[in-house]
This record gives sequence, C-alpha cells and structure tokens, in this order.
Amino acid sequence: MDTKLLFQDPASFATPLLAVFAVDISVGEGESPSPALLSTSDTLANATTPWFDSGEFKAALGETLLLHSPANAKPERLLVIGLGKTKSLSIQEIRKGAGVAVRFAKPRGIYELAIAFPEDRALSDERMDTLPCHHTSRAIAEGALIADFDIDIYRSDRKDHAARLVSVVAKEADTQSQAEIQTGFEEGVILGNAQNFARSLVNEPGNVLTPTELGRRTALMCAEQGLQCDVHSIDKILELKMGAFAAVTQGSPEPPALIVMRYEPAVAPAEGSPVLALVGKGITFDTGGISIKPAENMDKMKYDMAGAAAMIGAMQAIAQLKPNVRVMSIICSCENMPDGKAFKPGDVITAMSGKTIEILNTDAEGRLVLADGLHYAKTLGATHLINAATLTGAIGVALGLLNAGLFSNDDETTRHFLDVYPATGEKFWRMPCTDDYREQIKSQIADIMNTGGSRYGGAISAAMFLKEFVGDTPWIHLDIAGTAWIDDNKPWQSKGPSGIAVRSITEWVRSYPG
Ligand code: BES
Ligand code: ZN
Ligand code: ZN
Repeated sequence: MDTKLLFQDPASFATPLLAVFAVDISVGEGESPSPALLSTSDTLANATTPWFDSGEFKAALGETLLLHSPANAKPERLLVIGLGKTKSLSIQEIRKGAGVAVRFAKPRGIYELAIAFPEDRALSDERMDTLPCHHTSRAIAEGALIADFDIDIYRSDRKDHAARLVSVVAKEADTQSQAEIQTGFEEGVILGNAQNFARSLVNEPGNVLTPTELGRRTALMCAEQGLQCDVHSIDKILELKMGAFAAVTQGSPEPPALIVMRYEPAVAPAEGSPVLALVGKGITFDTGGISIKPAENMDKMKYDMAGAAAMIGAMQAIAQLKPNVRVMSIICSCENMPDGKAFKPGDVITAMSGKTIEILNTDAEGRLVLADGLHYAKTLGATHLINAATLTGAIGVALGLLNAGLFSNDDETTRHFLDVYPATGEKFWRMPCTDDYREQIKSQIADIMNTGGSRYGGAISAAMFLKEFVGDTPWIHLDIAGTAWIDDNKPWQSKGPSGIAVRSITEWVRSYPG
C-alpha cells in the first residue's frame, strides 16, 4: 500500500473516496447525539448537514455514512466516519477511524482513497483539547496501514483487496504544523509497516515459518535495512552452553535458530552510553512437548513466536527511525515437540548462566529459551534488557485480553516505558515481580524449577523465573500471550496477529539518548 501526504483543500481533491471524521459534541447524560464534522470545509458541511440534522448519523465510534457525488466537491464519494464523543476523543480514536476508512473501502473494490486530516479548529476550543498534529498524522498513517492487513494469504479463491494508495489530505496549515504533520506521517508509515511485517511473520503457519525460515526472513529484512544480522545454528547454541535453549529444541527435527541483530547509530554514542537489548521468544510451534497440550486450539500455537516477531518488527522501525542509541536483538527460535529425544519432566538442565533448572512441565518452555537469550544479551554488553513473549495463559486470566502484562526489576526503566508508550495506543499493565514471590519457583533438587509450585499467579512465577537470569541489569518483561492474537474482526483491524508491542518497544528505544 502506498501512502501520500498532501496539503490542500480535501473537498477539491479528486479521489474515488474521501473519508472525513465526525464527532458527537453532545455532553449531558441522555442528551441526543449532536454530530459535528472535523473539517472547516463549507462544501463538506453542506453535503453532510442534512444527515446530521435528521439524526440518521450519530457519529458513534466506527459508524459510517456513505454519500455519492457530493455537490461542488471533487471526490466521487464522501465517507463520514464517527469517532464517538468529543470528551473521549484521543489519538486512539483517530487511528481507529483511519482504519475504518480503509476497511470500509477494500471489500467494495475501492483501492484508492483519501483521508481528510481532522481539523480540531472546526470545533470551539471548550469542547475539545487540541490534538497534537504530529501524533494525529502519525496515527492516521499507522491506522491505515494496520487496516490494510488481511490473514487469508493461503486461500486459493482469495481476492486481492489490498489498498493501493491512501492519501492524507490536510488543509494548508502554517509551516510549523505542516512540518509536524509531515514528520508524524513519515513515522507512522515506518511504524505501520513494521507492525505489519511482524504480523505477517506471526500469521505464517508453523510448517512454513520454521526457525530456519524466521532466520532467513529476518536476515533479508536486516540486509534491506542496513542492520547487522547473524543467524546461528545448534553448534553455536551448544558452544555457548545454552543448556535451557538446547533442551527445548532437542525434541524437534527442525534446526533451531539463534538470531542476533545489531543497530549502530551513525554517530558513535559516548563511551558508557546505554546498550539496549530486545530479546524475543521465537517458538514457531508449541505443542507443549512431552507435557503435551490438549488438541483444542493447539493450532493457535503457531503464534508462540509473536514476541520474536515484535522485536524483529521493532528492529525494522529502529533501522529507519535511526535513534542515537545502540540496540541489539536476540531471538531464540525453535519448536517445542514431543519425541523420543525430547526433554522430560524431572530432567535437570543447566542454563548458560550456570543455574540449574528442574523441569516440571515441558510446556513452560518459553522461559527456558529466554533465560539463555537474556543472559547471552548481557554477555554481549547489554545495559538494559526488554523481552516480549507469549509466555503464559495465566496473563490472560489475570488481565483479560486487553492489557499485556509488564514486569520489571527496575522502576527507572519502567518509567521510561510508561512515559512513552501511551501515545502508541497499546495497553500494558504493570504486574508485581518482587522477591517475595521467589518461593514459587524454588526447587528441592536444583536452583529453580520451571513452573510455579502452585497454580496461582502463573504469569508472576514465569516472570520470577526470567528475573533469575537478568541479575541487576534493568529489565522489562512483556507477557503478550493474551494480546498477540485477536479472535474477532474489528471495523479497523482484521482478526489474527495484532502486532502488539512493536510500536511501544520502538518508542521505548527512542526514549534513550545515546
Ligand atoms: N505458549 C504458551 C503460553 C500461551 C498460552 C500463549 C496461551 C498463548 C496462549 C506457554 O509456552 C505455555 O504453554 N505456558 C504454560 C505454562 C504452564 C505449563 C506453567 C501455560 O500457560 O499453561
Ligand atoms: Zn508451552
Ligand atoms: Zn510457548
């Protein structure tokens, strides 16, 4: 999908479809909806007023109104998109609104469309806080790109409904706003594409996206983006004494992949500057191993590499946004399979750090590969660690499917994350990770065990396990098991892989000076 940003009057822009946003400015409880266009164009107002006055369009979030041949306007169609109440309007509704425009047009065979940049000055100031145009523009680009993604790539009767061109048309503003709109737009295109790249990896079935294939696609992306990339085989994993990673992969005939990516800023940061490490769980299929999972929903376990995909997507965005900070990414990718050679409950293994682990359940494999990935990142010089993983079903039980879990051993690093991620519209909730939970992973026979002693607080037990391998290095763990896959279609986004964490991790990286 191509994207374009233009500064001109949207009503005089020739396009098959122009999307324009509207909000409901009514305030009182029980007051009837009062739609208002986020545009100062008289032409567009004239076209929509009868519909607004009649009460047929209420401007609820995601509501649409399609008008053909609006009088005195160049667009062939006008699509009014509701963003909901003014008082609850934020960048998130704008992102969704842009998505609705694209997902409305595609199935109708309209592959070229335009979105009118919302003008908050169309409303009086008391009704609405001004939306920063940089963020608005970025959200429109992201929302449009995210909406273009579909999951049905293997259907023989697939119709290619990909949008070809989405233009964002902003009425000429002052030069400073124009510059901000331009920068935001360019960032949004980078982030939207990076998120879709991550989603495309997660969408692939396990027989296509093996660890080898994940390594190949990652190396290809890195070559295109000018990132350094090494894809290591089992030999390196054994040479590094990654006993936890090796235990998980040993039940599968598919070779594992240890992927190491590096981003170096153009101007070398000062000695002692932060080195950030992005570590991803890349289980391309999780059967549970010898502690095998039930058949129901096992097919979904192809998305057990969504943490890895988030990091690979973030690295693509980082390569293009060029922050002044060193970044590396470690992906531990393998399958978790039952086999005569597979690791077993009761086994005791030794991780790269030297810690011994009693295996109680082979389905708790993500924490094992991450234990070695996190430790390896430290040996490569990482000063700050962040990992993303579809780690536990328990995080969904704790938080539902809306918020991902955030665990950390460091308040300062968490503050960095919490300060910057909200603008992305992604949702994270901080969970406890204090040493009094360590009891849950104590083993009788080894240093620790790989599952909690009780079924309570399963997501915390997993986080406590990872904490054993980060030591004093500031670290954030994102458990995205409940949020990396969306079960239902939304008016602004297809069901399937969400691409969660790509945007937030990228923002976190950008918050560090070199
Ligand atoms: N990949 C799963 C976690 C998961 C569950 C991701 C549901 C997405 C949806 C992970 O490897 C796992 O199986 N965890 C176990 C841990 C248990 C054995 C302690 C779980 O959550 O049941
Ligand atoms: Zn598992
Ligand atoms: Zn898993």
